[in-house]
Amino acid sequence: MNHDLDRLQPYPFEKLNRLKAGITPPAGLAHIALSIGEPKHQPPKFIAEELISHLHGLANYPLTKGRVELRQSIADWLTHRFSLRPGSVDAERHVLPVAGTREALFAFAQAVVEREENPLVVMPNPFYQIYEGAALLAGAEPWFLNATAGNSFLPDFDAVPEAVWQRCQLLYLCSPGNPTGAVADIATMQKLIALADRYDFIIASDECYSELYFDEQNPPPGLLQAAAALGRDDFHRCVIFHSLSKRSNLPGLRSGFVAGDAQVLERFLLYRTYQGCALPPPTQAASIKAWQDEKHVVENRDYYRRKFAAVIEILKAVIEVEQPAGGFYLWLKTPGDDTEFARELFAKQNVTVLPGSYLSREAHGHNPGAGYVRLALVAEMDECVEAAQRISAFMKTL
Ligand SMILES: Cc1ncc(COP(=O)(O)O)c(C=O)c1O
Repeated sequence: MNHDLDRLQPYPFEKLNRLKAGITPPAGLAHIALSIGEPKHQPPKFIAEELISHLHGLANYPLTKGRVELRQSIADWLTHRFSLRPGSVDAERHVLPVAGTREALFAFAQAVVEREENPLVVMPNPFYQIYEGAALLAGAEPWFLNATAGNSFLPDFDAVPEAVWQRCQLLYLCSPGNPTGAVADIATMQKLIALADRYDFIIASDECYSELYFDEQNPPPGLLQAAAALGRDDFHRCVIFHSLSKRSNLPGLRSGFVAGDAQVLERFLLYRTYQGCALPPPTQAASIKAWQDEKHVVENRDYYRRKFAAVIEILKAVIEVEQPAGGFYLWLKTPGDDTEFARELFAKQNVTVLPGSYLSREAHGHNPGAGYVRLALVAEMDECVEAAQRISAFMKTL
């Protein structure tokens, strides 16, 4: 078997199960899981109906490239959402549907990395675990950029040694970030584009949380927007990853897209043709409807906004807590060790949170996730409020 498989870390949820093993939480309290970042709001009915009414499509093999109607609905959405020049996103060359961003983020490294060149894949730390696994299985070394409170939870790109940029073939950016919710601004993205030109690498911008934000007037910017503002309408070296999972509460649909540099996407399509990951025809039909509707997305955001306000109101009396710029996580600084906090909270209150150190690696003498826990506010309002009250009660016992 491929020896690189041995380099993969146990997934954070395996570590969490081990942490909780043998503990019996109070029987009178129902379990509340804030540990898993799975959207739980109701998906729009009209999308399910579209899916069902296209089940006859199961009689055909879909194309890896997807239907042109799907790619066009994505191109239209992108143009509107990121104020791109009309016509600059070509559905034929700049867009590829993917079965959720997870598989695409993984596959992308396999297609991009040139193994013979002593490659580095640069990524934030803490980070979405797929980036590391993708780098390792592509035969590259991950290089972690610590994202700490001191730098507003964004990687300090200025601190990266030149020797690292010289070996970098792929950079994963995550904005809004999982787990911290930090948003990279246009200037930062443009600095990265300049670095990508100088050192010849590709930027993979994971924007799957881009539609979950709190200030309706100030949506998180995207990498293609940053490129276009430089007059770079061909999106050279820039590829973005988007998903219906969080935007439309459809994690089970497995539908997203990549968009950007046409030359890169042409090669990625070749890779994907062999990988065999075309979207089922009913999924494509439902996805078209989802990208064409914004009303349900605005309502979804509004619900998150109300939940965050309610939870923060309860927590702020007992712990330092700030509303993130985007995403659906709270990244809480724990009074002591994060694993201990998570274990005790489960033991005393039957609430599961994810220790931050499970989402990060020791790098440059420090584990930037240690001393934090991640709370996913994905459940309905009542459950989130109840969890906040229990965390508050727990904090008072410390
Ligand atoms: C940062 C980040 N990227 C990508 C994904 C994958 O989402 P999906 O494959 O559902 O699009 C997730 C899911 O939790 C995530 O947190």
